[in-house]
Amino acid sequence: MKFFVDTADVKEIRELAETGLLDGVTTNPSLIAKSGRDFIEVVKEICAIVEGPVSAEVTALDAAGMIAEGTKLAKIAKNIAIKVPLTWDGLKACKHFTSRGTMVNVTLCFSAAQAILAAKAGATFISPFVGRLDDVGQDGLQLIHDICEIYNQYDAFTTQVLVASVRHPIHIVEAAKMGAHVATLPPNVMKQLAQHPLTDKGLAAFLADWQKTGQKIVA
Ligand code: E4P
Repeated sequence: MKFFVDTADVKEIRELAETGLLDGVTTNPSLIAKSGRDFIEVVKEICAIVEGPVSAEVTALDAAGMIAEGTKLAKIAKNIAIKVPLTWDGLKACKHFTSRGTMVNVTLCFSAAQAILAAKAGATFISPFVGRLDDVGQDGLQLIHDICEIYNQYDAFTTQVLVASVRHPIHIVEAAKMGAHVATLPPNVMKQLAQHPLTDKGLAAFLADWQKTGQKIVA
């Protein structure tokens, strides 16, 4: 499973990239607004930090507008994935870009039917929002299960399932069991994946015993 980080905070991206565990970045208009920075400038900076796909989202609602915006965004760097919403116009723009070799992330997916359309439009990534479905009393992980099952039936569907709107590590573990290709995680959830109280407790005990030996591995 590839890990993308879902943020436009360059400092956090740099810190996570240093771990070698980061495969890409997703941004959206809300995350750009939160960063308080210029969209093009911040995306350019992110693309220079991370080698993998960096999603930059269009804001036009019509296909022609999305194509104009996406064309400009694609020029920022080779690793840009144009993010388009799952609407008819978004699907048209998706087809436009993928047939020209530009990566596309189709976002705001809330149903398996929508995911089928994205695959048919040649999307590089489909982003089903698990947390937002859970928030309205639906089962976000069930959607990941359904999309993985459907995509697995057809060799022609090469779209990668990108688990989005992740709220906690269980979303990641369950989606990984289903074979989802990618997850985009808020930085705090990525850090939570490493945490376990028994790890902390065990480490404290080992270090206390080690101190008693008076030894040093490196003098
Ligand atoms: C995906 O690419 C989106 O940026 C993101 O995962 C949305 O998550 P949220 O529901 O926490 O805003």
